[in-house]
Order: sequence, then structure tokens, then C-alpha cells
Amino acid sequence: MTVPANRTPLTQRPEWQALATHARAQVGTTLRQRFAADPRRGERMVAEGAGWYLDYSKQRIDDDTLRLLLALADACGVGERIGAMFAGAHVNATEDRPALHVALRAPAGTRIVADGADVVAGVQDVLARMEAFARDVREGRWTGATGRRVRHVVNIGIGGSDLGPAMAARALRHYVDGPRPRFVSNVDPAALREALDGLDPAETLFIVCSKTFTTQETLVNAAAARAWCVAALGEAAVARHFVAVSTNEEGVRAFGIEPAHMFGFWDWVGGRYSMDSAIGLSTMLAVGPARFRELLDGFHAMDAHFRSAPPEANLPVLMALLAIWNNDFLGAQTVAVLPYAQDLARFPAYLQQLAMESNGKRVTASGERVDVQTCPVYWGEPGTNGQHSFYQLLHQGTRLVACDFIGFCQPLPAPGEDADDVRRRHDLLMANLFAQGEALAFGRDAVQLRAQGTPEALVAHKTCPGDRPSITLLADRLTPHSLGALVALYEHAVFVQGTIWGIDSFDQWGVELGKQLARATEAELAAPGVDGDAAAGHDSSTRTLIRRYRQRRGG
Ligand code: F6P
Repeated sequence: MTVPANRTPLTQRPEWQALATHARAQVGTTLRQRFAADPRRGERMVAEGAGWYLDYSKQRIDDDTLRLLLALADACGVGERIGAMFAGAHVNATEDRPALHVALRAPAGTRIVADGADVVAGVQDVLARMEAFARDVREGRWTGATGRRVRHVVNIGIGGSDLGPAMAARALRHYVDGPRPRFVSNVDPAALREALDGLDPAETLFIVCSKTFTTQETLVNAAAARAWCVAALGEAAVARHFVAVSTNEEGVRAFGIEPAHMFGFWDWVGGRYSMDSAIGLSTMLAVGPARFRELLDGFHAMDAHFRSAPPEANLPVLMALLAIWNNDFLGAQTVAVLPYAQDLARFPAYLQQLAMESNGKRVTASGERVDVQTCPVYWGEPGTNGQHSFYQLLHQGTRLVACDFIGFCQPLPAPGEDADDVRRRHDLLMANLFAQGEALAFGRDAVQLRAQGTPEALVAHKTCPGDRPSITLLADRLTPHSLGALVALYEHAVFVQGTIWGIDSFDQWGVELGKQLARATEAELAAPGVDGDAAAGHDSSTRTLIRRYRQRRGG
């Protein structure tokens, strides 16, 4: 590993200090005042790119805030780091490799070089193999062992080998005209049972997705699925019912899947940045190769915007800077991701891994302690559901929560539905989105409540203080293109935040310890007897829990 040079700690930088001073001076200035002082604020504080419109006027900022944030980005080398990422530099310092997910969606013929070799041609080769396979499955030329068509696809994977494709399958359900995939990630036997419920082995294709092909949950679930398949169809059926997506050919072969049935990718694709690689095979089987290409085009459109738009009009850069402002200067510890689109139901979960596995770190790429707060906690639910559960806290709680509203101008009526009625209901959905952003920003004060005749005893209870920052992201429709652009937008915003904090957004060392301990503990649970000293090496809490479990698990 080439250790990057130490950085000046953020709090010692003049740009950071200027922002801290500015933040103190802003205390007490409300969004109401900001909007009153600038009637065009909602038209000015917007940006557009790759089909997405960003309104950031409801952030607690003014033009100086933005100027100071842009100066911070400049001082932290955001422009250079963007260039370095696209150029294949080893921006993943601790693993000493590039992070070149942008190559996965680069048009054929583009040249992107990693370690001296062009990678785009290899990406296009895998895409062509995926497309040929997807056509064979979708058109019935690839059949199961008994000659029956594939009607069910089960994706077995976890983390980046699950969340991206699962989110995409849900998001693009309007476009599904092939086998609708099911997903198994959890090693809990209930997960595989649920995924297999009602399926006929003769019509089921399993895609085992694992970048490393060493992930315990995935290998255990794949082995159980294999046993289910073999019990019904015999050992020879495995070749027709299992394919793999991995970078580890040896591991795939050891599992019993021939390399001819494996779709590869590369170590320069991080798991959480991989839904547009062969990890997206289930997406392609569901929506078809042409729609998958549209998804890639959407990603690429946002890549191009990110690379070329000036920082002050650059969506990922702006979103990253506003996230830093909310997190580090206003003290918002969490971000609520609020898609007003039921089909984006899995988007918050997807974003949790993308943001928190990338930037949930406490040291810089060179190993020094970061001297400010890094990644906030991401969470969320589709609107309007969340309005009837946790929005109470957003409006009146003691914590400041930054909100990302995401919506679409047009609904997607299903065949046979009354399009006017769908539009009316979609209007209602979007009315709620706009109303929530407005209510969070401007609230309702005591004067207004009294003017409305609110009994004095209820004035405090009904007061909504406002000043809760949100951004609103709007696109015309939820399409493969707009989904790709949205994911790329967040990918790049995460990278820019990591760049400012000085951390490596592409490693994930923190997940290793738990994995090691689980391996050791699994062996202890398997040891004979019920209360021997198999768990002797643990602390008294873990030891007692293991003993109690062993005594009571039965079997
Ligand atoms: O445990 C975390 C992690 O390594 C993620 O980064 C990754 O997406 C996931 O596990 C799955 O890894 P793999 O694709 O190698 O099975």
C-alpha cells in the first residue's frame, strides 16, 4: 500500500475555520427570513443534470455559505480527486487499487486505463456475454435440466451483491417483462425458505453473486439452494440451474459452477458500486438487455455531468457540500431518505450501504484520526408512509434531521389502469412531498396558531419550529435511465464527502472483525456437549450467552 501524505486536519484549515465562524453568525437566521429576503431563492438555488433537478433552497445556507463550501472543496482537492478517479489512479489507497465503477457504464470504444491497460473493452465483453445469456433465458433457449423454461430467478448474495440488484428489481418493476427475481441474502434459514416458497426447481435459475466468493452467508445459502435443486432434479442439474457472478474463478469452480457459466468483474469494482456490473444480471434478466443499457446510460449521463459541470452547478458536489454543512456545522446526525415513489422502497437500504460502508470511518486514508464527524446515519421509508410514523420527530423533535425528498413528475400507469385516475393519485402523492418540504422549512409559529384560534393550552404543542433542512430531487419519470443517474448521483456525492473528510471511501475494514469472531463462534456452537468450556475464551457476557444458547437450542 502506498500511504498517502498526511493532510492538514480539517479544523486547522482556514476554509474550515471560515465555515465555522460563518455557521456561528448564521444562528438565528430562519428559512422564513431567507426566503422573505430573496423572493427568487427557490428559482436560484437549484441545479440540473442528467435528467435530475435539485432544489437546495430549503437548506440553511446563503450565498456566502455556498462560496465557503466551494472553497473548502477546492482546498481539499475535490477537482483533482474526481480527475484521479476517472483516470484510474489508486484512489482506494488502503487496498492499493482504482475505484473505476465509472468504466462499467462508459460507452463502448471509450478508453479508461487502470494499471496500464484499458478496461472498457473487458467490460463490454462481459456485457455482451450477459446479454446473450439473458436473451437465451428470456426467449426460452436456455432451459432447466428437464427442458422447461426458466420462470424464476433467485439471486443469492449479500451486501453489494444483493442490495443494488434488489433495489433495482423493485425500482424497475414497471419495466419487468422477464422472470421477476427473488433475493436471498440473510443466512437465516427463513430467508431461503421464503425465497423458494412456491417455486418449481425445474423452472428456477440461481445466480450466486459474490465478488470474493468467500462470503459465508452466500456460500451457505448457495449450498442449501444447491441441495434443494439436487434433491428434486439430481446432481447433473446443477449446471443448468446455477450461474455465478464473481471475480474469483477458482472459488466458483470449487463450488461446482463451470467458468463458462460465470460472469466476471474486477477488483476495481467495489461491492457497493457494482449493481451496474455483472452483479446486475438479475436486473437484466428481468427488464431485458435494452433496458439494462438504458440504466447504464443513465449512470453514464451523471458521470459525464459530474466530470464536466462546474462545482457550483455540479449535483454530486453540491449535495456532498450540503451534506457536510448539515453534518459538521449544523450538527444533523442523520439523513432521512424519503422517496415519494413506492418503487424506490429499497432505495434507503441501498443508500445505507453505499454511504455508511463508504464513509463510516474514523481515520483518514493515511491513518490519522479525522477531527470532525464523518458519515451521518442514513435511513428512510417511502412517502407518504413515513408521514404517519416518524415524521412527527422530523417536525417537532429535538434533533435536527436532514431530509432528501425524491420524486417524479409523471406516474407510471399500468396497462388497463385509468391513466387520469392514476395521475390524480400521483398528484396527491406529490402534493404531500411538496407540503412536507414546506412544513419542515417554515413550520407554524405561535402567532399563526393564535390567529387560527388555537386554544392557548395547545399553542406550544402545535408549534412547528421549522428550519428543518431538506433537498428535493425531481426527475420526469422513474425509468432505467433516471434510476441509473440517481444512483450515480449518490455514488459521486459519497465520494466527494469522503474526499473532504480525507477518508478512503472504497475500503471497509470495519466489517472484518465481526466476520472473524463469527467464524470462531460457529465452531464453538458446533462443538459436542451442551455446556463444556467451548466458549471459555470469551468475555463473561458472550460466554454466558453461548452456554445458554447451547443448553436450550434443542436438537
Ligand atoms: O461484509 C461487507 C462486504 O464485504 C461488502 O462490502 C460486500 O458488498 C459484501 O460483503 C458481499 O461481499 P461479496 O460480494 O464478496 O460476497
